[in-house]
Amino acid sequence: MFCKEIYTSRRETLKKLVGTGLIIIVGNSESPISYMDNCYNFIQDSTFLYYFGLNSPDLIGVIDIDNDKSFIFGKEFTMDDIIWMGSQKSFQSRALEVGIENFEELEKLNSILESAKVEKRKLHYTNQYRLENSYKLSKLLKLDLETVDLEFSEKLVDSIIKMRSKKTELEVIEMEKATNITRDMHLVAMKNVRAGMKAFELVALIESEAKKHNATTSFHTICTTNGEVLHNHSHKNVFKDGDLVLLDCGARLENGYCGDMTTVFPVSGKFDNRQKDLYNLLIEMFNKAEECTAPGVENKYVHLEVCKTLAEGLVERGLMSGDPESIVNAGAHALFFPHGLGHMIGLDVHDLENFGEDKVGYDSKTLREKKFGIKSLRMAKTLEPGHVLTIEPGIYFIPQLIEKWENLGLFREFINYEKVKEYSNFGGMRYEGDFLITEDGNRRLGNKMPKDVAEVEEFLVYKI
Ligand code: GLY
Ligand code: MN
Ligand code: MN
Repeated sequence: MFCKEIYTSRRETLKKLVGTGLIIIVGNSESPISYMDNCYNFIQDSTFLYYFGLNSPDLIGVIDIDNDKSFIFGKEFTMDDIIWMGSQKSFQSRALEVGIENFEELEKLNSILESAKVEKRKLHYTNQYRLENSYKLSKLLKLDLETVDLEFSEKLVDSIIKMRSKKTELEVIEMEKATNITRDMHLVAMKNVRAGMKAFELVALIESEAKKHNATTSFHTICTTNGEVLHNHSHKNVFKDGDLVLLDCGARLENGYCGDMTTVFPVSGKFDNRQKDLYNLLIEMFNKAEECTAPGVENKYVHLEVCKTLAEGLVERGLMSGDPESIVNAGAHALFFPHGLGHMIGLDVHDLENFGEDKVGYDSKTLREKKFGIKSLRMAKTLEPGHVLTIEPGIYFIPQLIEKWENLGLFREFINYEKVKEYSNFGGMRYEGDFLITEDGNRRLGNKMPKDVAEVEEFLVYKI
């Protein structure tokens, strides 16, 4: 948690941006796994965390812009809670720590909203991603669920995105901590991977590294020898010499800030020639992105430059033919790189995407395209100092997609299917880091990560 002045000043800025009315920010509740008292790890709504700081369930923050007052509504601890959970600091005093003098029992919110409605004041709330929070709003505002979904405040959402997209120095310090724990998770994997090991055994070491730092994971760990399956959540591979492991994982600090990195490393400790060759191309793509990423530059441009580097590399290797620019304009390269270059990261691993990908990654100048490949680019708009985003190019050989495109006769002038099929059991590779946009360029967060072949192999202690 930051000091109370930070939360107060964030709420002040939000008031000015929204202008008039009442802002309602709904905090999350516990999510039961199998019965009410057996819940998943509690994750607070990140917008609530950003403006109201308290990491506890069942709270609602309200900013009354016109009367210049902020509230947190909830339920103060009872003796029953203390019996089961031990002694607790009261919400009254915790609210003071985030600059809120008015901690009130939830029932009181009903009467405040009633009078606001009578006075025909604008009630601003965001679009929701958890049905139970829509339900809370539906009860509070006496609207049906469909109307709650339709009548959210675009002005509030746009103002929140504007503020949360630009990370302050204090936030960057927290993100750097999350990135360094993420780095340790990767290094522990590289140092311990062995032939004969099961992926879940490695995942146990990776995730315990996060826990050692009182962190959790920022998303479901991907640890697989089938990297071509983009969101492969199975941990059942048994590693063998010759395999490449794709590890995509991240730490989430207790205060919510996230890291997200991907590495690829050979189980044997040494890349073979073909792996080394394509890994070098992957790193060329990553370096190209790093070189182009700067304030004032559209991230869509960076994505397309990286696609051209890929196309050039595949032409050199005989997998594609033709001019890289024409390949990318046609979208043929997307057979090997079907996703986007990256996404914003912050209090959520795909930061702010709960408001809709287009709202976060696009604007009136940069519109979303429908073509396969680039349609999956989440962050396309012009970069600004303070943005933090991932750079995560990949090269994949997806046998079903290759077969489908070949059968359809797609891009025969660009794709050398016979050669490509020689790689159909290659799998997939991705390399990912987290970057801050600075005044004149960018800075990769965290301590130096192994990237080039020699640097990665140095961390692979076991070598055949
Ligand atoms: N782990 C998902 C991503 O990198 O976006
Ligand atoms: Mn990732
Ligand atoms: Mn990512």
